[in-house]
Amino acid sequence: MNQHSAQEKAKALISALEEYGQGDYIGESISQLEHCLQAAHQAQKAGARDELVIAALLHDIGQIIPLESTKEARMTLRQSTENVGRVGHEAIGASYLESLGFSEVVCRLVDSHVAAKRYLTAINRDYYESLSSASQKSLAFQGGPFQGVDLEVFQQDPLRDEMVSLRLWDDAAKIEGIETSTPRAWAYMNIIIAHLLHKA
Ligand SMILES: [Fe+2]
Repeated sequence: MNQHSAQEKAKALISALEEYGQGDYIGESISQLEHCLQAAHQAQKAGARDELVIAALLHDIGQIIPLESTKEARMTLRQSTENVGRVGHEAIGASYLESLGFSEVVCRLVDSHVAAKRYLTAINRDYYESLSSASQKSLAFQGGPFQGVDLEVFQQDPLRDEMVSLRLWDDAAKIEGIETSTPRAWAYMNIIIAHLLHKA
């Protein structure tokens, strides 16, 4: 991918996040945008590699982007009647990012944030109790805690620890009133461009 194309893609993505992320984060008291910015900021503060920071920033992009943006979204989207968000938004987001040229690691991390919740609820009851009620409610629609072979497969995934970290930042990224101390989406422009360029 050339510089111009990487820049254009990064710009369009950040603009989409800012424009469409203004809506409520399903069942929570902050916007989708603030939620994503808080998740990315936590990743950055923890010293995560760029791919993980990008995944944290874009983990809910499948929840945010207009449906016509991806053909998978049109084909697979089901809006839950229980208002728990777009069912399958993690896969929608991952395939959207893949179509834009993001790495397999970024796409897998984005795709995993629901699986990581299913993993953590399977191994730790306290984790389940710590989830917001909206997140507990959506778990049921997401297949519930992992069991058997699913649990085993997640456990052995080489990206497991990063998937778990992303999930924990996701869960914690629901704090009201910290906009001024949370970097804005444009702050991530350069790492997204560098990522897209490097990947090509
Ligand atoms: Fe999220």
